[in-house]
Amino acid sequence: MSIAVPTVTEAFEKRFGAKPELVVRAPGRVNIIGEHTDYNHGFVLPMAIERETAIAGRRRDDGLLVARAENLNRDVTVRLDERVRNAAEPWIDYIMGVVDELLKAGKTPVGADILILGDVPLGCGLSSSAALEMAALCLFEELGGFNFDGPEAARLGQRVENNFLGLKSGIMDQFISRCGKADHGLFLDCRSFAYDLVPISFDNALFVIANTKCARGLTASKYNERVGECGEAVAALRAGTGREGTHLRDFTLEDLEVCRGGMSEIAFRRARHVITEDVRTQKACEAMRAGDKVTLGAFMTASDISLRDDYEVTSPELNAMADAARALPGCHGARMTGAGFGGCTINLVDADKAAAFCAELMQGYTKATGIVGELILSRPADGAGRMA
Ligand code: GLA
Repeated sequence: MSIAVPTVTEAFEKRFGAKPELVVRAPGRVNIIGEHTDYNHGFVLPMAIERETAIAGRRRDDGLLVARAENLNRDVTVRLDERVRNAAEPWIDYIMGVVDELLKAGKTPVGADILILGDVPLGCGLSSSAALEMAALCLFEELGGFNFDGPEAARLGQRVENNFLGLKSGIMDQFISRCGKADHGLFLDCRSFAYDLVPISFDNALFVIANTKCARGLTASKYNERVGECGEAVAALRAGTGREGTHLRDFTLEDLEVCRGGMSEIAFRRARHVITEDVRTQKACEAMRAGDKVTLGAFMTASDISLRDDYEVTSPELNAMADAARALPGCHGARMTGAGFGGCTINLVDADKAAAFCAELMQGYTKATGIVGELILSRPADGAGRMA
């Protein structure tokens, strides 16, 4: 855990003049492999990180949510029965989205004084939004005396993004933020929601997260555009094969070649990424289970090339960071992670070369781009829950 309970409690007391009833937390995540596959009903392999969002809360019985975002130094009061977007304080939308979906699910969120404090960097592809949603859900569960199971909680969080926030995102971020486990990655089938916690224990290797410090604008519209392109490919695959199928998960690389003429070149390349990424993710998971860092690293790099050339969600800065990493001793693989267009890379590096790798990566990145990057080192962390 990266946030200490007394820190949150003290900030709450300073704002509200009394002790909170409880403190909950939910982590950010990094995806090891399986990118842009979740909304295509494919496979992902993320891990939760030791960066989290904590919320201290105390119930109120007047139907109000009095909220403070400590990091942003912003306060807002909203009525729980007025579930509308807030243009002035957009951070509260993630919580109002949870309130909205709870009510649709027949649960009653109680009013509360809350203070939010976190250390997941914002807009860097490490899922600060999923961490906030899952922490808020945890708070309402604890105060309301109800409980969702892990997959149900994650699906509620996904609906917050899809319905309240208008992002057609998949289930990965909320799932790992809720269901992650210390020292484990989580292999998830995004169609059945069956998942497996896979121990991460390499002989002399660790993951290094590198932040390009470049958050791209228009991520939401570009993201939804990719979702649409995958839909176009599915329609052409159904027509061309004469088979039923709702998602790219239902088709193979052979199907794609057969149907190539029936779709745009863009849709073809998007589908090629997704279909090959699903194969890579399953094989990479086996390599991770076997502690085979060389094979896992090779799949990570292949994933990055596919995201760069076929899915086109990298950026010059992400490419510079990944290229710089792959040129360094002890690096088994490097790839962009998350939605893309900016944000972070994840690297699999020999532990005994990690210190030199980190220093040289930062130098190489700055030399290539003129930007000062940032390193984030984290063990795989536990999913959301109440703090002691
Ligand atoms: C974002 C979305 C996820 C997933 C990734 C790309 O993080 O929220 O659902 O689609 O992008 O893999």
